[in-house]
Parts: sequence; C-alpha cells; structure tokens
Amino acid sequence: MFAKQAKRHFRISTGLFVTVLVFMFSHTVMAQVPATYFKQNCFSCHTIGGGRLAGPDLKNVSERQSRDWLVPWILDPEGILASGDPYAAKLQKEARGAKMTRSLGMTQNLANALLDLIAAESKLEKSQFEGIQLSDRALLPEDIEEGRALFTGAVALKNGGPACIGCHTVNSLGGLGGGRLGLNLTRAYARLNGRKALATWLVAPPSLTMSPIFAKHPIDGEEILPLVAFLKNETEADLPENVALLINFVLIGVAGAVVLLVIFDRIWNKRFRAVRRPLIDETYRLTRQR
Ligand code: HEC
Ligand code: HEC
Repeated sequence: MFAKQAKRHFRISTGLFVTVLVFMFSHTVMAQVPATYFKQNCFSCHTIGGGRLAGPDLKNVSERQSRDWLVPWILDPEGILASGDPYAAKLQKEARGAKMTRSLGMTQNLANALLDLIAAESKLEKSQFEGIQLSDRALLPEDIEEGRALFTGAVALKNGGPACIGCHTVNSLGGLGGGRLGLNLTRAYARLNGRKALATWLVAPPSLTMSPIFAKHPIDGEEILPLVAFLKNETEADLPENVALLINFVLIGVAGAVVLLVIFDRIWNKRFRAVRRPLIDETYRLTRQR
C-alpha cells in the first residue's frame, strides 16, 4: 500500500518535473531563437537604439510603420521596393546605396517574432542590440600597428580565433601576404560604411564562413578598435594591389607546379619502365624465336 502510493507519488512528480522542464525549455528557445537570428542576420546592418548602420536604427520601428507593412517588408524587401512603395523609396534614399535583401530562411512567423523582439528591446533602457560602445577617440598610429599585428597573426587573438591573414589579404601586405579564401579587405572599411558599422560587423560577423568560427572565438572588444583602425588605414592609403608581388606569387606557383611535374614524371617513368620493359623484352624474345 505504502509502496504503491510512493510509486504513484514518484510518477506524478517526475511528470511534473518533465512538464516544467519542457515549459522552461520551450520558453528559453522561444526567447532565444529570434535574438540569435537577429544577431546573425540583422545586427550587422541594424542596431536597436544605437544609431544608423547600413540600415536605419530599428528602435520603435513599430511606431513608424504598421505590422501589415513591416512583415511583408522583412519577407521581401526587394519586391516591396520594386513595387514603387513610397515609404520604401524614402528609406532607400536615406540609406544612400545600402540595400536590404531577404534573409535566409525568413518566414511570416519569424518576421513577427523578430518584430516582437524589436518592440521588447526598444522598451529597454539599453538594448543588447545597441551595438558596441566604440570609443570615439581619434585612432592613433599605435592602433593601426596593433591592428596589423592582429591581422597578420604576429599577435594572437585573445579568444583563440584564427588570424585574419589565413583567409584575407590587404594590398599593403602584397601578393604573398594572406589567404585567398576571403576577400581582399583593402576597401572593406568603405564597403561596410565606416567605423561603427565595421566594428558592429566584426562583433558578430554575419559571413557564412566566419560566423561559425567567430561565434565560438569572438574577437575581443579591445581588439575591435585596432582592427578597425588598421582597415581604415588600408582604405585611406588605397594602395594598388601589389602587382610585382602578385606576379611573384604566380611565378612561385608555376615553379612549384614544374617541380611537382618533374617529380611525378620521374616516379611515373620508373613505374612505366618496370611494366613496359619486361613486356617489350618478352615480345622481342618471342619475335626472335619465330
Ligand atoms: C545588408 C544590410 C541589411 C540587413 C542584413 C538587414 N537590413 Fe533591414 N534594412 C536595411 C536597409 C538599407 C533598410 C532601408 C531600406 C533599403 O534601402 O533597403 C532597411 C530597412 C528595414 C526596416 C524598415 C525600417 C524603418 O525605419 O521603417 C526593417 C523593419 C528592417 N530593415 C528589418 C530588418 C530585419 C528584421 C533584418 C534581419 C532579418 C534586416 N532588416 C536585415 C539593411 C539591412
Ligand atoms: C576562415 C577564413 C576567415 C578568417 C580566419 C577570417 N575571415 Fe573575414 N571573411 C571570410 C570570407 C570567406 C568572407 C566573405 C564573405 C562570406 O563568407 O560571406 C569574409 C568577409 C569579411 C569581411 C567583409 C568584407 C566585405 O567587404 O563584405 C570583413 C570585414 C572580414 N571578413 C574581416 C575579417 C577579420 C578582421 C578577420 C580576422 C579577425 C577575418 N575576417 C578572419 C573568411 C575569413
């Protein structure tokens, strides 16, 4: 009797425990997914309360426009713009050339969840999407040098991220300096619209290649300003791509290929001879015998 009751009690409490767990889990998931999504897909162009980046500050956007306009906009910004919508045309004019495109995997539910998130974040004194509080101080030559050291890996990134040079180059480093998987970042500072936007971009790189790596090993807040200083300096110096070094790079590639060819040729020749010789010898022997 007692055992049976205890067992029932146990069953009820596990049931309750699981329910609570599922409830908590679904709540954190629901609270987290739009925020994570926003961070990875919107934050590079939009702050909430931190001022304009490539796109407008989204603080209180729901007070400027209705859901009926905003949801279709997030689903298909290019379509709305192409339709000649006057509000979109005004936004586009203010954005000076930057353009919003449809984000990966966007659905109506997600667009609504993101607008809920933006509304909630707009009410906070300080939204987590205010963007980084980058110091406004003048960038010093030391910042540029520090940024260069971080870029080239001469100084390791604090949180263990790979050096930028593994995938990027800039013109001041010439043809041999840097990987070709990523882009040449000489003009990145200009392309990404300056100091604040580039800095925000680096806090959570939305790049398909970089985001999985730098989500785990984020660029430290202290490292952002030097990197921005370095890239700003590259854009301003605007050196031409170093053609001599680039030719060297190609020549070294060609020389390497020649060496490899010679080596392979040697190896193949030996193999070939080993097969062909006995065959030829055998044929020769047979013809002689006839
Ligand atoms: C490449 C930069 C970029 C990305 C990424 C981006 N946007 Fe935009 N967004 C813009 C620009 C620029 C505008 C202004 C309209 C235009 O020129 O396309 C805009 C406009 C908007 C507006 C209207 C703002 C207003 O003041 O009425 C909303 C809402 C918006 N974006 C939400 C989002 C959401 C949500 C995401 C992520 C899913 C996102 N955007 C991703 C650049 C971007
Ligand atoms: C594993 C390779 C890899 C590493 C390491 C890497 N990047 Fe990138 N990065 C890329 C690729 C690839 C792109 C192109 C965009 C994409 O993937 O969507 C890119 C794009 C960029 C862009 C945008 C350029 C533009 O004009 O749109 C910036 C800025 C940038 N990287 C900065 C950095 C910095 C600074 C570092 C070092 C802290 C770094 N990257 C390290 C692969 C890398």
